[in-house]
Amino acid sequence: MKITVVGAGQMGNGIAHVFAQGGHQVTLVDIAQASLDKALATITRNMDRQVAKGTLAEADKTAALKRITTLTDTAAGVKEAGLVVEAATENTDLKLKIFRDIDGHAPEGCILATNTSSISITKIAAATKRPEQVIGMHFMNPVPVMKLVEVIRGYDTSDAVTRAIMDLSRAIGKVPVEVRDYAGFVSNRVLMPMINEAIETLFQGVGGVEEIDTVMKLGMAHPMGPLQLADFIGLDTCLAILRVLHDGFGQPKYAPCPLLVQMVTAGKLGVKSGEGFYSYTAGTKELKVAPAFAS
Ligand code: CAA
Repeated sequence: MKITVVGAGQMGNGIAHVFAQGGHQVTLVDIAQASLDKALATITRNMDRQVAKGTLAEADKTAALKRITTLTDTAAGVKEAGLVVEAATENTDLKLKIFRDIDGHAPEGCILATNTSSISITKIAAATKRPEQVIGMHFMNPVPVMKLVEVIRGYDTSDAVTRAIMDLSRAIGKVPVEVRDYAGFVSNRVLMPMINEAIETLFQGVGGVEEIDTVMKLGMAHPMGPLQLADFIGLDTCLAILRVLHDGFGQPKYAPCPLLVQMVTAGKLGVKSGEGFYSYTAGTKELKVAPAFAS
C-alpha cells in the first residue's frame, strides 16, 4: 500500500521508518526541507542501530530506505495514497487545517489516520467529507521500539476501516489495541495524570527529580521515571495533552501543575530544547538533573 506520512518530526520519522521496513512505499511530507533531511538522517541512524543489533539485515535497510520519498508539497504527496497518517504537532487548529487539505487531495477510498495523542478523532473527522474513513493510529515513542498502536474509532469510523488499520498494524509487527474516542483515549488518560502528579510532587518538595524517578523506576519497574519520560515526550506536548483532558472532562484532577506551565513558558521543553527536569548534551546519553532542580 502507498502510505503518506504528514509531518517529519519525532513521531513522523518513526512512523515512516516502520512502514518502510514493513515493505510499504512511503512518502514523507513536511513543509520544511530541513525537517525532511533531518528525518531521513534519523531513520538511517535508527536502522543502523537495528543492523548493529542483528535485528535488520543491511540489504533490508538499504531497500527500506529506498522505499522512502520526501516531498514538501502535501497535495502532491497524498494524491496517490491508500493511507495518509498525519503526525503534525499536537495542535487542534493545525490538525484540522491539514485534514481539510488532505481530504481535498487524497483519492476517494484513501484512509485518513491521525497520530494525535489526545485530540478528538470525531472532531478531526468532521473537518473532512469522509468521516467514516478517518481513524486514530497512535504510535508510541520511540516508534521502532514500542509495540503498541492505539487504534481509536471516531463516532463515524467504519468497521472496515478499523479492521484495515488493525490488520496493517499487525502486518508491520505492532500490537494494535482498539479504543473509543474520549479525550486522551486510554494511553494518555492514564499516563498524563501520573506525569502531572510526579511534577506536582516535585513542586511541593516531597522529593527531588532523581528521588521521584528512582522510586518509579526501581519501585514500579518503569523503564524511565515519569520526569525523564516527560522530558522525552516533550513538556509542551505533555501540557497540550493535559489541557485536552482538562477541557474534555472539566475535572480539576486534570489541571496542569503550575510548574509544568511555567517550564513550557520558559522554553524548557525537555530533550528537544536541551533542558527540562534534566539537562541534555547532544550526542551523549548522560542524564544530569537540570540546574533549576539540582540540590
Ligand atoms: N530506533 C530503533 N531502535 C531504538 C530506538 C530507535 N529510535 N531507540 C532505542 N532503540 C533500541 C536500542 O537500539 C536498544 O536495542 P536492544 O534492546 O536490542 O539493545 C533498545 O531500543 C533500548 O535502547 P537503549 O539501550 O538506547 O536505551 P534504553 O535501554 O534506556 O531504552 C527506551 C530506551 C526504549 C526509550 C526505554 O527507556 C523506554 O522504553 N522508555 C519508555 C518509553 C515510553 O514510555 N514511551 C511511550 C511514551 S508515550 C508516547 O509515546 C505517546 C504519547 O502520546 C505521549
